[in-house]
Amino acid sequence: MAKMEVKTSLLDDMIGVGDMVLLEPLNEDSFINNLKKRFDHNEVYTYIGSVVISINPYRSLPIYTPEKVEEYRNRNFYELSPHIFALSDEAYRSLRDQDKDQCILITGESGAGKTEASKLVMSYVAAVCGKGAEVNQVKEQLLQSNPVLEAFGNAKTVRNDNSSRFGKYMDIEFDFKGDPLGGVISNYLLEKSRVVKQPRGERNFHIFYQILSGASEEFLCKLKLERDFSRYNYLGLDSARVNGVDDASNFRTVRNAMQIVGFMDHETQSVFEVVAAVLKLGNIEFKPESRANGLDESKIKDKNELKEICELTGIDQSVLERAFSFRTVEAKQEKVSTTLNVAQAYYARDALAKNLYSRLFSWLVTRINESIKAQTKVRKKVMGVLDIYGFEIFEDNSFEQFIINYCNEKLQQIFIELTLKEEQEEYIREGIEWTHIEYFNNAVICDLIENNQTGILAMLDEECLRPGTVTDDTFLEKLNQVCATHQHFESRLSKCSRFLNDTSLPHSCFRIQHYAGKVMYQVEGFVDKNNDLLYRDLSQAMWKANHSLIKALFPEGNPAKINLKRPPTAGSQFKASVATLMKNLQTKNPNYIRCIKPNDKKAAHIFNEALVCHQIRYLGLLENVRVRRAGYAFRQPYEPCLERYKMLCKQTWPHWRGPARAGVEVLFNELGIPEEEFSFGRSKIFIRNPRTLFKLEDLRKQRLEDLATLIEKIYRGWKCRTRFLLMKKCQIVIASWYRRYAQQKKYQKIKSSAITVQSYIRGWKARKLLRELKHLKRCNEAATVIAAYWHGTQVRREYRKFFRANAGRKIYEFTLQRLMQKYFLEMKTKMPSLSPIDKNWPARPYLFLDSTHKELKRIFHLWRCKKYRDQFTDQQKLIYEEKLEASELFKDKKALYPASVGQPFQGAYLEISENPKYKKLKDAVDEKIIIAEVVNKINRANGKAASRIFLLTKNNVLLADQKSGTIKSEVPLGDVTKVSMSSQNDGFFAVHLKEGSGAATKGDFLLSSDHLIEMATKLYRTTLSQTKQKLNIEISDEFLVQFKQDKVCVKFIQGSQKNGNIPTCKRKNNRLLEVAVP
Ligand SMILES: Nc1ncnc2c1ncn2[C@@H]1O[C@H](COP(=O)(O)OP(=O)(O)O)[C@@H](O)[C@H]1O
Ligand SMILES: [Mg+2]
Repeated sequence: MAKMEVKTSLLDDMIGVGDMVLLEPLNEDSFINNLKKRFDHNEVYTYIGSVVISINPYRSLPIYTPEKVEEYRNRNFYELSPHIFALSDEAYRSLRDQDKDQCILITGESGAGKTEASKLVMSYVAAVCGKGAEVNQVKEQLLQSNPVLEAFGNAKTVRNDNSSRFGKYMDIEFDFKGDPLGGVISNYLLEKSRVVKQPRGERNFHIFYQILSGASEEFLCKLKLERDFSRYNYLGLDSARVNGVDDASNFRTVRNAMQIVGFMDHETQSVFEVVAAVLKLGNIEFKPESRANGLDESKIKDKNELKEICELTGIDQSVLERAFSFRTVEAKQEKVSTTLNVAQAYYARDALAKNLYSRLFSWLVTRINESIKAQTKVRKKVMGVLDIYGFEIFEDNSFEQFIINYCNEKLQQIFIELTLKEEQEEYIREGIEWTHIEYFNNAVICDLIENNQTGILAMLDEECLRPGTVTDDTFLEKLNQVCATHQHFESRLSKCSRFLNDTSLPHSCFRIQHYAGKVMYQVEGFVDKNNDLLYRDLSQAMWKANHSLIKALFPEGNPAKINLKRPPTAGSQFKASVATLMKNLQTKNPNYIRCIKPNDKKAAHIFNEALVCHQIRYLGLLENVRVRRAGYAFRQPYEPCLERYKMLCKQTWPHWRGPARAGVEVLFNELGIPEEEFSFGRSKIFIRNPRTLFKLEDLRKQRLEDLATLIEKIYRGWKCRTRFLLMKKCQIVIASWYRRYAQQKKYQKIKSSAITVQSYIRGWKARKLLRELKHLKRCNEAATVIAAYWHGTQVRREYRKFFRANAGRKIYEFTLQRLMQKYFLEMKTKMPSLSPIDKNWPARPYLFLDSTHKELKRIFHLWRCKKYRDQFTDQQKLIYEEKLEASELFKDKKALYPASVGQPFQGAYLEISENPKYKKLKDAVDEKIIIAEVVNKINRANGKAASRIFLLTKNNVLLADQKSGTIKSEVPLGDVTKVSMSSQNDGFFAVHLKEGSGAATKGDFLLSSDHLIEMATKLYRTTLSQTKQKLNIEISDEFLVQFKQDKVCVKFIQGSQKNGNIPTCKRKNNRLLEVAVP
């Protein structure tokens, strides 16, 4: 395999020459050699300018991959090595970008690769155009229409295993963005004779084989078919199987495609029912049956097949059976029924089969169109792809070949028109210097066929419509007369006997020198095929079918719509549709793909030079190259040219004022394009070399980018400027508002400061005024005071003589006296009681009388005390004196004291002078007795008490026996040194005697008395008055007593209560006498 390389230019690293325009030297040999060289290196595409020559490789090449699609996408036509994709891309882009409707014209012989090429173009466009769910569905439907139509419209021929037996032109519609919207398919004349008969080595339409191979048993059963080709008369047996074709899998592909395209299940079912019916029709056979009137009559041999057909299609069996036996001719309101002989019956059968099939095919196309129809009403751009049956020369060529070849003539014509004739004429028209290039113009051949008066088709129609016996021979005769002189018409029996001796030309044939070669047509069948007659009985029978599809296929069978007018002949129909097609193509920008077949064997790697040479010749490719070389690669009217490139030059950009031609001149001069590269025509500029155009395009692209940048720049500038201006405006507004605000603020500040200053000044002024006023007032007041004083002084001076000098003191004293008076008078009424213990005293009325008041209180108290004392007698006084003395001696010292306060001191408790008992004692004393009382004398030895009479006189203390009254002891007061007693509530007391005294021999006396306080007090008073010495009275709970020689301690203790309240005395030991005081 040759190395696949990415080429950046047509001239770089090419095998041979990629563009024949550059071929040097140019002649047939070099042309073919170049093709061969390229073909041998797998380069099947070669350019002639913008025309693509495609040589069928008969094997799959790895040059249609998605990567290749990407490689060619959006690239310049001449940039990469020649490819069908480059042409497709160019067409698609100029459709999308320049809004030019396109058509892709694919021409070439049968088997040259036209159908493949058309599919490649479509798949490329599908790959590069818009994406998206909706778009993809449209694409898918467009692409899937192919397998369906190929199954029903293609067949194996000797030339091509997949030969298109119909012409197809497909318009793909795009929106302004280049997204596909839908499509319209036009079909041209299906070769329907193939349904009933196929030449040797050929097959019927693929679909029959596909059904029988691919359908399930169940489905076949439903269709009442058997999986056996040999069972069906209509299927040519010799080549039922084609190498490399898998009918079964293709059947599945077809069914799948039908589903994608949008066929309903019941529609698919109906379609296959019709196909089955057609197949089965072929099996209906007739046998002759002689009738009494001598006429031959046909009869169906085996009605089983007929029955099945009727079951399949819902036709009444008797109706169909009758339609195969009789023919009703209607003329002038008369119906004449004639029987059909066997041959006529077969003819009727085949006619029905052909019609059924071809109408089914047309219905399929209509149905597909319904599905792929663009949904919107928006303006559409159109790309037409024409894939028509190729030029054909068979052994036996009939009406179909004639039609096919006519169509090819027309296509060649349009090619010549647009590439050779039109181009050359344009140079002349435009006044470009031009040497004419000879080429064969096939217009004469077209005229031979299609001329309205003398054309073959017109003759045929004339024959068909002519009353009387019309046969193919009468038609040939006619041709022989009319076309005898035509250069391209040959017939044995033509008037001019040019071909009288041409044995290669049978009598029943005529030959046409087509642009692509001579073709001999068998005249047999021309009239019939042109008439395309179907007996009305059959079409009516079909219309009666209980099968909606079949009914729809035969609308003329409706008795209500009987139309006695002849339908247009097949030839005239075809002519008309071809004319429409040509007109259509002429409105579009053509893109040519010229397919060449390298050999007749459908084999790879074989390059049959003679065969190729023949095709090159009739295709006029060499002339094409010559015209191209002599001419200019590109032309364009001045206006659009200037419009397109004016941005490349300063003078023309942005506006050129003046004629467009002058503008283009300036532009080209400015760009420095060499003069030989272009020519100025009358209305167009001609550019010789594509390179120049590409250069221009590149410059333009560059410049557009610059302009885009410029526009962007200007727009940005404008945007920034407007923004800036707006900002500036805003700034001014803001500033003015701010200034206003600031000034307002400042003004308010100044105003408030002014007010403050003003108020201070006013305040200051007011204060100053106030000060002055105050001063003035003070001055006035001062003056008044001075005046008052002065007046006072004057008055006083005047009145002084009227007053004594001490009048003030007197008044003071008087007042004081008055107050005192008042005080004392008030005191008189408020005096408290005379009781000395009354503590009440009126409150002091004046502060200055404080000391007086206190003094008065004291005096009053003293006075009332004196008053109280003055009530007492001397006796009472004495008693109180004694009581006072006792208080001084014992108060708070001796517990016995308080009880003694209430007891009056009686002194002489014993009535000594009265009681005779004590007469002796009385006599013995002879002194005034101060105390006479019974006391208990405590025995010094044992502590026992013994009653004694205690007497106190002025000088002595006497103790006498109570019974006898005998004096037991007598102690002068001077010998009494001390009296001791306890601090407790007892009456014990010790009288201590002066040592050495007479009475002291026995020791001190320890006594106990109920009237101890009285006795001690009187003893003390008496001692004091007699001896002028204070008697020592010791109060202590432990004291020493002198007993004879011993000193005994008398101790007072807390005693028990068992002896009542009487204290008990006990001699404890020599040294201790214990007194228990309860
Ligand atoms: N580009 C191609 N690559 C490979 N095989 C091709 C190519 N073009 C055509 N063929 C082969 O040639 C056969 C005939 O091509 P086809 O397009 O049907 O011819 P046409 O439509 O011109 O009669 C195809 O079935 C295919 O096998
Ligand atoms: Mg084809």
